[in-house]
Amino acid sequence: MSDEDLNRGLEGIRVAETRLSDIDGEAGVLTIGGFPVDDLARNATYEESVFLLFEDRLPSSEELAEFRADLAGRRAIGEEVRAVLRRAAEEDKPAMDALRMGAAAANLGTGESEPEADARRVVAVFPTIVATYWRYREGEEPVEPREDLRHAANYLYMLNGEEPDEAAVRGLETYLNTVVDHGLNASTFTARTVVSTESDVVSAATAAVGTLKGPLHGGAPGPVLDMLRSIHESGDPEGYVRGKLEAGERLMGFGHRVYRVRDPRAAVLEAAAAEFYDEAGDSDFFETIKAFEDTAVEALAEHKPGRDLETNVEFYTAALLDGVGVPKELFTACFAVSRVGGWTAHALEQLDDNRLIRPLSAYVGDHDRSWTPVDER
Ligand code: ACO
Repeated sequence: MSDEDLNRGLEGIRVAETRLSDIDGEAGVLTIGGFPVDDLARNATYEESVFLLFEDRLPSSEELAEFRADLAGRRAIGEEVRAVLRRAAEEDKPAMDALRMGAAAANLGTGESEPEADARRVVAVFPTIVATYWRYREGEEPVEPREDLRHAANYLYMLNGEEPDEAAVRGLETYLNTVVDHGLNASTFTARTVVSTESDVVSAATAAVGTLKGPLHGGAPGPVLDMLRSIHESGDPEGYVRGKLEAGERLMGFGHRVYRVRDPRAAVLEAAAAEFYDEAGDSDFFETIKAFEDTAVEALAEHKPGRDLETNVEFYTAALLDGVGVPKELFTACFAVSRVGGWTAHALEQLDDNRLIRPLSAYVGDHDRSWTPVDER
């Protein structure tokens, strides 16, 4: 195989057709289920976004009520899953490890194994898994899900034990809608690969959690918040950026495999975060964030001329999720709580018109070695 045939990281290779989302990386335009991301993110409830991905249309009010009630009825977890989450919390396992363990058990006791039922179950149960783990981490008893609250509201309720105000629900919902799907990113590709073997949707979502965990994909917003807080305290964004780049480190929250302009999701989340910081009377912190973005983008342009390293989704995710009261230890898990809608929709789409995903590798090892018995080595 020649070097030209080798594509490390599958960059620029199309391996699936999808109607779920479209990214124009040059223009910085993201379309989800046919809608510009800002239109969907600002207006939809999370249940409407997921219905749109599953059914390729918006639900009528009756369909929405039915879908919402169906998801709400699938939220509860049993004592055996709670025990695993309690143990994960006691051992200080990161939230994404706990979510992976809980996800793997998502079809326990459901009595169903159809792809659509599995998809609804994992979407419905992810917030319960994350919130249950978090309550144990905080030394509190888990809060039972409430069927009368919509998805985002119930998630905040299970996390904090209090019914959230509408502004927090709306902020979280804007986030959940913004990141619900994003082309064939690494975790979505994983989900499609799993079901392409005719495996099941719960396995696909579990494997996708493992893929999302890494800092090059979903693990950046926690470090972004630490970075923003430390710059806010030091008041020296230039010094921070210079120090990082001179040490050969990456600035978290900048750069993207596909976008060569500012990630369009950053604008949606920036607007939502601005509202929060304004309402919370903490516009000082928000000013620091804005000023840091300008400093960092300028420094990155000098550091990597021609590479166009701009703000990615994780940058304002940190600001927004912190604003609505999601603890930073749960930022990546919160990303999964949203993206599971995209993963499962992709898994169903893959199953609809399946072809086993099976690329090639370029072998760079030896040929024709001859075997030496162990006592002669
Ligand atoms: N800070 C400093 N330099 C950077 C950054 C950054 N954030 N991003 C890329 N670069 C540099 C790289 O060091 C590389 O330089 P080199 O050619 O001298 O090695 C060059 O720009 C190209 O980088 P690649 O690694 O080829 O870019 P790739 O497309 O593989 O990576 C990625 C994209 C992983 C997101 C990268 O920009 C990065 O590590 N960013 C920081 C982590 C982050 O914010 N992750 C969240 C991503 S958003 C999401 O997945 C939801």
